[in-house]
Amino acid sequence: MAQLWGGRFTKQTDAAVKAFNDSIGFDKRLYRQDITGSMVHARMLGRQGILSAEDCEAIEKGLEGILADIESGALPLMDQVSGISEYEDIHSFVESNLIDRIGEAGKRLHTGRSRNDQVALDMRLYTREAVDDMRERLLHLLEAVLEIMEANTETYMPGFTHLQKAQPTTLAHYLGAYFEMLRRDYGRLCDCRARMNECPLGAGALAGTTYPLDRAYVASELGFDCATRNSMDSVSDRDYLLEFLSDLSIIMMHLSRFSEELIIWNSNEYRFVEMDDAFSTGSSIMPQKKNPDICELVRGKVGRVYGDLMSLLTAMKGLPLAYNKDMQEDKEPAFDAIDTAAACIPLFAEMLRTIRFNKEVMEKSAMRGFTNATDAADYLVVKGVPFRDAHGIIGRLVLRCIDEGKGIEELPLEELKTFSDKFEADVYDAISLRTCVNKRLTAGAPGEAAMAEELAASRAWLKAQKEVQ
Ligand code: ARG
Repeated sequence: MAQLWGGRFTKQTDAAVKAFNDSIGFDKRLYRQDITGSMVHARMLGRQGILSAEDCEAIEKGLEGILADIESGALPLMDQVSGISEYEDIHSFVESNLIDRIGEAGKRLHTGRSRNDQVALDMRLYTREAVDDMRERLLHLLEAVLEIMEANTETYMPGFTHLQKAQPTTLAHYLGAYFEMLRRDYGRLCDCRARMNECPLGAGALAGTTYPLDRAYVASELGFDCATRNSMDSVSDRDYLLEFLSDLSIIMMHLSRFSEELIIWNSNEYRFVEMDDAFSTGSSIMPQKKNPDICELVRGKVGRVYGDLMSLLTAMKGLPLAYNKDMQEDKEPAFDAIDTAAACIPLFAEMLRTIRFNKEVMEKSAMRGFTNATDAADYLVVKGVPFRDAHGIIGRLVLRCIDEGKGIEELPLEELKTFSDKFEADVYDAISLRTCVNKRLTAGAPGEAAMAEELAASRAWLKAQKEVQ
């Protein structure tokens, strides 16, 4: 018997309806969570005297056998010839197979349980593992970013606003911004995990059950902090998934920005970086091409993850309490978002590790484009000129430099003096690239001392997270 609910029906389900309704094609990946949940449920029923010890033992052994056979391939989840399944969903698959294997005792497993709280539990277990896995992947990426930062505190480069050169900075500082974004992403995943870690099993179909279940026991056996509080909410809450997909969307958005950055830096015009051959692809027609496809794909895949989040938000928005079949639509977007982010994060980390930074090109670029104009104005301020006047003086000076095709530091002192008599010989040192960067000492700035503090704090934070992971 493939269906769990034939009793009140007088007709077979229409074949198209069955195909439309079935979810095993995608929820089959919950088999391990489903079996784990069932084992704990059965054990609890035994402890509470709801099931006999023999039945419990038979169920547990039967479930162990099913798990082993699924994992070895002896028990395929889908029919290997047709590619479809006679079972409606993974819950029916496991329960029906259990009954086939152990008979009567198997029919007692579903006592005090509904597929509504069962699927709520399975998805939560699956999501919790995915959150933990994603945290680990993020830590590896953070490590890759931090290592590049630590090696590049003296790699000078321009910082941009409006994609126009603004002020000089270092690669360590630049990448530090991405470290911070990803660090917050990691924190968001931790928050999500803490909020979702409550066990919905025992909520029944929606209103609990008349059996004396021990929900606290089940929760603790499955590693939850506690049982959920309201049984209707327990079977109809998908907030934790939405929260996780939002977190994944933000992570992907950050990776997309990072990708865009690298794509620009890798262009012939910038040549700040060279992607490793192993992480680039060529063109079928243009022999000279070496394209940053990994970055472009990561940037492109963000759309899928946003779409997954939107699908689920939209699926949930009009649902009255409690369970509605619409909720079965949570799985494909969730799995797609998880698979996408899980693939992008480590690939991105490996790609980063193999990038070559063209330090000379970056430094030269930092010296052009008047990135020291703010410092030249600040120089005059130190000499007593009000900032607004200094801004005007340097603006006129830049105009002259553009005319002459020179940098501010290339004008002789006499010429500088025609703009302000406050200019002295020490101006050249004050507006040199190294001074411009290293004088920036406010916390969070690229100056050597500030950066050393940022790096030490980041390293200590990362070490602490790795220890708790
Ligand atoms: N396949 C269903 C889902 O994923 C399982 C829950 C079915 N519950 C029900 N009352 N039909 O949501």
